[in-house]
Amino acid sequence: MSLMTRFTTAAVAAVVVLLAGCERPPVDPVQRGYRGTGMEVVYNPRAVDKLVPLNQPPAPPGPLAPNEGPKAGQVYQNVKVLGDLSVANFNRHMASITAWVSPQEGCAYCHNVQNFADDGKYTKVVARRMIQMTQKVNADWKPHVAATGVTCYTCHRGNPVPAQIWFKAEPQDKRGNFIGNLNGQNMAARTVALSSLPNDPFTPYLLEAKPIRVNGTTALPTGNRASIQQAEHTFGLMTHFSSSLGVNCTYCHNTRQIGGGWEGNPTQLTTAWHGIRMVREVNNDYMVGLTDAFPAHRKGATGDVAKVNCASCHQGAYKPLYGAQMAKEFPELLAYAKPGDGLPPPVSEAARSVLYFNVGSFTLEGEQAKGLVQLVATMTAQPATKVTISGYHSAAGDLASNQELAKNRALSVRDSLAAAGIPASRVVLDKPLQAEANVSGEDPVARRVEATLK
Ligand code: HEC
Ligand code: HEC
Ligand code: HEC
Ligand code: HEC
Repeated sequence: MSLMTRFTTAAVAAVVVLLAGCERPPVDPVQRGYRGTGMEVVYNPRAVDKLVPLNQPPAPPGPLAPNEGPKAGQVYQNVKVLGDLSVANFNRHMASITAWVSPQEGCAYCHNVQNFADDGKYTKVVARRMIQMTQKVNADWKPHVAATGVTCYTCHRGNPVPAQIWFKAEPQDKRGNFIGNLNGQNMAARTVALSSLPNDPFTPYLLEAKPIRVNGTTALPTGNRASIQQAEHTFGLMTHFSSSLGVNCTYCHNTRQIGGGWEGNPTQLTTAWHGIRMVREVNNDYMVGLTDAFPAHRKGATGDVAKVNCASCHQGAYKPLYGAQMAKEFPELLAYAKPGDGLPPPVSEAARSVLYFNVGSFTLEGEQAKGLVQLVATMTAQPATKVTISGYHSAAGDLASNQELAKNRALSVRDSLAAAGIPASRVVLDKPLQAEANVSGEDPVARRVEATLK
């Protein structure tokens, strides 16, 4: 081989290596603003073709039945979130989450199939909280998810562990080297599209609420805390935004004023701003709270729980599942019952309190928690008095578990009194009582505790 051929071969090989990170033309540029302003989004039709079939929603497991007949909260023993669903719709929900989260493993992924009421498997405990999380996202984060909404499938896509999750980066091992703090850089991490940017742009912005900023807000460094590190983290996060949504920077930013206010920017900038706040809430209020529920092998190098970022839902698409309105088939995931919704107000008298409970629940929620105020005042003023507590349950459902529930309701009232300074020695617990026949279980008056001064 001549020197020239060898040189050419090497040059061709070098070009191939260099371009391997680029996308082969042709590409489709789509203009999204005035000509000449660079407001273009560049799509690679071959990449899009691959994504489309991966982003089709699954068919619902049959139509929704009218929410009539006995409720899951009455028929089953341990239903805390979906108690208001009819048994038929509850079972439809169970079939759906199985198809979305554990199609291979089936019901047994979350359940002890000898006893479906058992909470022994951590997956069931996690799933119950995930139902609440999904309801919260759909009900309170409409500025981001709009009417499209999300279901478990949006993140899980048939996998028990969603494909796109993140953990805190492992702290740098600084023994025996003189490199100093690498700040997580030059790690070719996928989180930042293999760039040299810091590999964990999520902890500061999607868990903590550090300002996402490159420039200071003042000309002089008075109170201006934007550092180079912060700028690098900001660009790391922006790279994640672009790669998770399969778009470039101009999808959200007007090139003339990145960071210069909202005016003139695509509406997607505002949607994304809400998305950042939504993800922070999901991570802090739902995921972090589940840390102890997860076994060690599901946690990250620093013992933290798996968390959500933009890719968890979007998975390469500008809208998850290209905006397919899948959630509307599952109204139980669109709203959540606020604690104490639909209960009569508590009776709060000097010598008597009556407190009401939700189906299947023994916690005093919302307004009900305030119903003991008058009674506590009397008992504090008259130290010789004793209170008798009776828990009532409805006639619907299994008698043994209803009695257990009524007892737990009475105990939670005793605990509230103790918290207000009334010792257990002044509390007499009565046997659980069945309320006036209320076989359908609809009447909230049947689910009550009475506390009477004697
Ligand atoms: C991804 C986890 C998960 C899967 C898979 C799952 N379930 Fe459930 N199941 C739950 C959760 C969570 C609850 C409690 C719901 C609540 O508290 O509102 C529950 C409750 C139940 C209950 C009520 C039990 C009681 O007495 O309290 C039944 C019955 C049930 N599931 C049946 C099924 C069946 C049948 C399947 C398979 C088709 C299934 N589940 C698959 C998570 C799951
Ligand atoms: C916003 C994204 C998101 C949505 C929506 C979501 N999940 Fe999850 N889910 C996660 C993350 C993140 C984890 C933690 C991953 C892990 O298990 O290590 C997780 C874990 C789980 C696990 C534990 C799996 C295991 O083996 O560790 C279950 C079960 C589960 N989710 C059920 C559900 C159900 C049921 C729904 C719908 C009601 C739902 N999820 C909706 C993100 C989501
Ligand atoms: C999905 C929408 C979206 C995409 C795509 C996106 N950004 Fe952003 N960007 C935002 C939002 C929203 C903020 C403001 C965040 C905040 O204030 O909480 C922001 C903030 C910034 C800032 C900080 C401005 C300041 O005030 O200092 C810079 C710089 C930036 N983006 C650059 C980029 C670059 C470069 C890209 C492409 C790699 C990009 N963005 C892609 C939504 C996006
Ligand atoms: C819980 C799932 C979920 C997560 C997590 C999520 N999104 Fe979204 N996002 C959605 C849904 C659903 C829509 C579609 C809303 C609609 O139809 O208008 C959407 C829409 C958007 C849009 C508007 C697209 C358009 O063309 O109108 C932007 C921009 C966006 N998301 C950015 C982000 C960013 C940035 C993050 C991370 C900080 C993020 N999203 C995290 C569910 C999610």
